[in-house]
Order: sequence, then C-alpha cells, then structure tokens
Amino acid sequence: MIDSAIAKIALADLARRPSAALGHFPTPIDSMNRLGAALGLSQRLFIKRDDAISFGFGGNKVRKLRYVIPDLIAQGVDTVITCGGVQSNHARATAAACAASGLHCHIVVNGTPPEHLTGNALLNQLLGATCEYVTGRLDRKPGMAQAVERYRAQGRRPAIVPLGASTPMGALGFVAGVGEMLHQGARPDVIVHACSSGGTSAGLVTGVALHRLDARVIGISADDPPAAVEAEVRAIAAGIGDLLGVGSTALVDALRIEVDDAFVGPGYGQPTDASREAQTAAAHHEAVFVDHTYTAKALAGLIAYCRDGRIPADATVLFWHTGGQVALFA
Ligand SMILES: Cc1ncc(COP(=O)(O)O)c(C=O)c1O
Repeated sequence: MIDSAIAKIALADLARRPSAALGHFPTPIDSMNRLGAALGLSQRLFIKRDDAISFGFGGNKVRKLRYVIPDLIAQGVDTVITCGGVQSNHARATAAACAASGLHCHIVVNGTPPEHLTGNALLNQLLGATCEYVTGRLDRKPGMAQAVERYRAQGRRPAIVPLGASTPMGALGFVAGVGEMLHQGARPDVIVHACSSGGTSAGLVTGVALHRLDARVIGISADDPPAAVEAEVRAIAAGIGDLLGVGSTALVDALRIEVDDAFVGPGYGQPTDASREAQTAAAHHEAVFVDHTYTAKALAGLIAYCRDGRIPADATVLFWHTGGQVALFA
C-alpha cells in the first residue's frame, strides 16, 4: 500500500487544481438489487451513474475533460483537435466541452462520412464541431498533426487532445472520482468498468491507491489485450505521479491493475450473447441502458465474475457506468 504521507501530498495537489463545471457532481450511486435478484446473484450490487452526468449526454470523457479543458485554456489554446470513430463518445464529449467553453473543436474521424447523421455524429454537428474523415485508425495521428499546422497557419492556437483524453491530466478526473465515491459513503470491494484507451482505468486504480482503499478495479476491455491496456495504464499513472508532485515509482508500484479482454467477442463494437443478456437485464430490471461497444460488455463481465465466484458471493460490487448510451440511437 502507498505511504500515507505520499498519498496526502498527491491528493492535496489534486484538490488545488481547477476543474471545469461540466455538469453536476457527485453522480448518483444507486443499488441494483433488482438486477442482482433477477440474475440470482448474492453479491451486493451498486452502480455509479456517470451515464447520468448532466452535461453533453455524460459519460467518462466528461470527467476527464473537467481537468483537460481548464489546463488548455490556461495555455491560451483556442482550438481543440481530437479524434475518434464516427460514433466516438469521446469526440462528442470533447465537442460539448469545447462548445460550453468557447473553444473550437475539430475532430479527425476514422471511417466513412455517414449519409444521415445519427447519434454522436449528429450531436457533433449540433455542437458546432468540424469533422474531417480519414480512412483508418492509423491515419488519425498524422491527420491531427496536419490539422494543427493548418490551424496555426490561420493564426489560431490549436492543441491536440489525444484519443479518449487518456492523458495523466484527463485521468485526474477519475482519481477525483474515487474521492467523490468515498465521500458518498461507498466503499466497494470490487469496481468493474469498461476500458479501452486506459485513462479511466489509470484514474481509478490510482485513485484507489492514493485513497488507500482495499478494492479490486477490474477493467473489461472493449478491444485491446490486457498487456497493452495495462502498459498504457502504468504509463498514464506514472504521469499522474509526476503531475501530482510525488514521482512515478511509489505510485506505480502500489497499483493493482486487472484487465480482462474475454468479453470482446468477435470484435470492437460487436454484440455478444453475454452483452445482449447484460443489456436486456439492465434495462428490464433497473431501467439502465448499456451499449454493446463498452458498457454492456463490462456489465457482462461483472455478471460472469459474480456467477463463477471470481467475485466472491459476499463482496460489495460497484459497476462504474461510463456512459455510451448515445450509441443506442446511432
Ligand atoms: C462509454 C465508454 N466507456 C468506456 C470507455 C473506455 O474508456 P477509456 O478509453 O478511458 O479506457 C469509453 C471510451 O472510449 C467509452 O466511450
């Protein structure tokens, strides 16, 4: 466990940092007794409702942007360049945060321009973001670099927010999120959440370590294998240690990282039998909506772990809902 003096220094630094008022916090924590009973689970189940963040259709990216946007504004940035797929929740949340902060948002989108805009793509347009389409995921980074040059040539002050806002600064949103959860009186034994680019996991495991909470954080991957996500989580957490003035070593050594890609199924964004079961059960029994790209697979992971005992029967379990419900209308 991390030294309490080091944790104190890091959390005091975090408390002094500006965060943008994008929505109202804390987000609710509800019980999911009906879901647990319907599935025959004996664990106590709770849900942290980041899907209900009251800004820009919410989700985990809003938490990250609360720290990223003030930092960019302090640097004099007036144009934010980011990237994602056609239905990226991150791109939509960034477009929303920019709109509400007086910044221009430019999105480098991998995929084909849709004939009819739906879901997040429609919201991006309404939010005033500009989109440029590139062919594949590998074209996104060079596309963003070129966009920076174009905007600079126009006399603007652009900056890139990388994929998923999964930077140490963005992950601070989830370090703070753990403090918020504890303040609400929740002390789960296990936190389960959807992960991909690693920022949410990095913030949660770092937050758990800094608050010296004895909890497992299980990230259910939407795409990449555990080794890749875990390496990313460690790198982001090291950056958090540097940002918060305690260095990377003590922090990274204290992390308990668990990532599981067993619920991806045939591929990113493709439903599985387990994600269908999770989506239907969450809606039928709790009126909670989860999407097949991220949160239905994460909930499917939680259900499987509870059923087969990888999460013990007497555990208190918190499903951290990371949003993504806009995809249901895509
Ligand atoms: C709804 C939802 N959940 C989870 C994730 C994964 O978060 P991260 O990229 O921080 O690992 C994303 C991001 O892509 C998302 O949109």
